[in-house]
Amino acid sequence: MNKNISVVISEDDLRRRVRELGAEISRDYADRTPVLVSVLKGSFIFLADLARAITVPINLDFMAITRYGAGKRGGVVRIEKDLDLAITGREVLFVEDIVDTGLTLGYLVRNLQAREPAGLAVCTLLDRRVRRLANLPIRYTGFEVPDRFLVGYGLDHREQYRNLPYLGALPEEGKGAVQP
Ligand code: IMP
Ligand code: MG
Repeated sequence: MNKNISVVISEDDLRRRVRELGAEISRDYADRTPVLVSVLKGSFIFLADLARAITVPINLDFMAITRYGAGKRGGVVRIEKDLDLAITGREVLFVEDIVDTGLTLGYLVRNLQAREPAGLAVCTLLDRRVRRLANLPIRYTGFEVPDRFLVGYGLDHREQYRNLPYLGALPEEGKGAVQP
């Protein structure tokens, strides 16, 4: 365990909630084959666990983006890798790691809607609603989280910590040695 990181959501709580989300999605998409679309790299662990908790047939696809301008959290989005699959007429479930300002999600949802899917719903593991700038309907939410920068379970800080099996918070800057 990394001694500078405090646990915000434990491995057990993640496992339990992801199973619940998978069961709910499986009920809602009974008799259909949704395309799970996610953005590299932050959601890769959530997606891997969620996909295995879903019992209906699915397709999987990935996009890669870069954000620039107005800090890296939000601002302008450029698509570096687009979907391989055509989603026109398909049920799309967009899987996110965390919705913060909602600017990234807003951009991507508009981009995917333009391809005329049969339906487009959003599933996010984490919702930091206090920072929301763009209002978007989110059908499935794992946890609401406070305004602290989180790492682990796929989320990074400068490409580190993605492999932590829990979600943690880095020590808050300027607070000194706040962690035990
Ligand atoms: P938004 O456009 O402000 O909603 O930005 C959302 C994206 O920023 C997420 O998909 C993450 O990639 C990244 N992000 C936002 N908050 C965090 C965090 O606490 N830890 C790691 N990445 C984050
Ligand atoms: Mg993301």
